[in-house]
Amino acid sequence: MFDRRHFLSTASGFAAAFAVRGSLFAQLEKVPPLPDRSLLDKNEDAYWAELRKQFLIPENEIYLNNGTVGSSPAPVLGAVFDGYNTTEKMDQQDPEDYPIWGYAAWNEFRDPLADFVGCTRDEIALLRNATEANSYIANGVDLKPGDEVLMTDQEHPGGVHPWNLKARRYGIAIRKVALPLPVKDAAQVLNLFNDAITSRTRIIFFSHITTVTGVVLPAQELSALARSKGILSAIDGAHVTGMMRLNLHDLGCDMYSSSPHKWLMAPKGSGFLYVRDEVIDRLWNTIATEGWDEPRLRAERFQRIGSSNLPALWGLRASLKLANDIGLDRIEKRHRSLADYVLAEMMKRRADSWTSPDAALRCAIVTVNVPPIQRMELEKWMWNTAKVRIRGGEPSKLRLSTPYYLQRKDLDRFLEKFDEYKKAKQIV
Ligand SMILES: Cc1ncc(COP(=O)(O)O)c(C=O)c1O
Repeated sequence: MFDRRHFLSTASGFAAAFAVRGSLFAQLEKVPPLPDRSLLDKNEDAYWAELRKQFLIPENEIYLNNGTVGSSPAPVLGAVFDGYNTTEKMDQQDPEDYPIWGYAAWNEFRDPLADFVGCTRDEIALLRNATEANSYIANGVDLKPGDEVLMTDQEHPGGVHPWNLKARRYGIAIRKVALPLPVKDAAQVLNLFNDAITSRTRIIFFSHITTVTGVVLPAQELSALARSKGILSAIDGAHVTGMMRLNLHDLGCDMYSSSPHKWLMAPKGSGFLYVRDEVIDRLWNTIATEGWDEPRLRAERFQRIGSSNLPALWGLRASLKLANDIGLDRIEKRHRSLADYVLAEMMKRRADSWTSPDAALRCAIVTVNVPPIQRMELEKWMWNTAKVRIRGGEPSKLRLSTPYYLQRKDLDRFLEKFDEYKKAKQIV
C-alpha cells in the first residue's frame, strides 16, 4: 500500500527545494485520498470524477491517448519515490545486498503481478516493456531458414521488427494475415489464421489488442489452434494488462508480452514477459549474465539484465494494488461504456468504423476513419485549441482511447470540437 504519510514526509524536503518550479511533490501533496468504493454504487459519475483527481493531467486537458502511454496516478508516483527513498540510502543490512538489482528474484513484485495476470511467478520475467519482451521471444526461439512465423498485418513496430531482424539474420520467413477493417467476429480471424498456416509455420505471433484498430483478437482460440497443430503461440499483449481481465493460464498461449505503463498506469519501464512453464526451457536468453544457463531459475533467468531500475517496480506493484482496489471488472466495464459511447457518437457523425461491431472484440480503443480530414492536422488543432489529445494514423484514421477516469463531458468536449473543426473546414 502506498504510504501517503511516509511519502509526504519524504517529499516535503524536496517540495521546498523545488517549490519555485511548482514541483511534482507539491502537486502530489494536494491529491486527495482515493474515493471509497461504495461511492461507485451510489453515484458512479462522482466516483470516477474523484478518481480523476489522482492524475497529474491538468483539469482542462483531455487525454485520449492511453493507447500510446498511460499517465501514472499519485499512488504509483508516490510508490516510485518511496522506492528511491528506500534503495538510494545504500543502508542494506547485508553488505552483499548492495543494489545489484539485476540479480534478484523480485518475488515481491512478481507475485502480485502473477496473481493479476493468472500465472505463476516462475513464468514471469520483469522486463522494461512489450518491445523488449517481444525481442526476447523472437530472438530466443530456435528457427531454421525457411521456417515461418505467421502474424497479422496490424502488428506494432515493436512486435514485427524483432521478427524482421531474425528474418534478415537467419533467413526465416514472415507471413501475414490481412485483418479486415473492421474485423467482423472471432470466426473470421480464426479462419484467416487457419487458412494461412502451412507445413513450415512454427510460430504464430499476434497482438491481443492491435495498435492499428484496437481490435481484441480471439487469443484463446488462436492459441488453441496453434497448439492443436504443434505450433508455438506468442502474443503481444501490450494493451491488455489493466484494460481488461487477463488470465494467462486460461488463455493457453506459450508466450506473452505486455506494457503495463499503458492501461495499468504503471511507470514507464515496467513491462513483463510470460513464458508458459513447459516452454521456458525452449527459449534462449537474449541478455546473458550469471544465471542465464540455470534452468532451475525458470523465467527469472530472462529478467537478469544487469543493474536495473528497481523503483519502477515499486510503482508497478502500486498500480496493481490500485487496479485491485478499484476492481478490474469495474474498470473494464467503465472502459467499455466510454468507448461504446464515443463510437456511437462518431457513427452518428457518419465516421467509417474500423472498430469491431462485435462487442467481444473491442474494449477501450475506438478507431474510425474520417476522410477527408487529415488526422495530423486535426490532432494538432485539437491540442492547440482545446487541449484534447488524440492520436491517429495516416491519412485519416483517428484512434480514441478511453481510460476509466474520463468523464462523459470530456468525450462530449472532444465531439463538440470535432464538429467545430468540420464546420470550420466546411467538411460535410
Ligand atoms: C500492440 C503493441 N505492441 C507493442 C507496443 C510497444 O510498446 P512499448 O513501447 O511499451 O514497448 C505498442 C505500443 O503502442 C503496441 O500498441
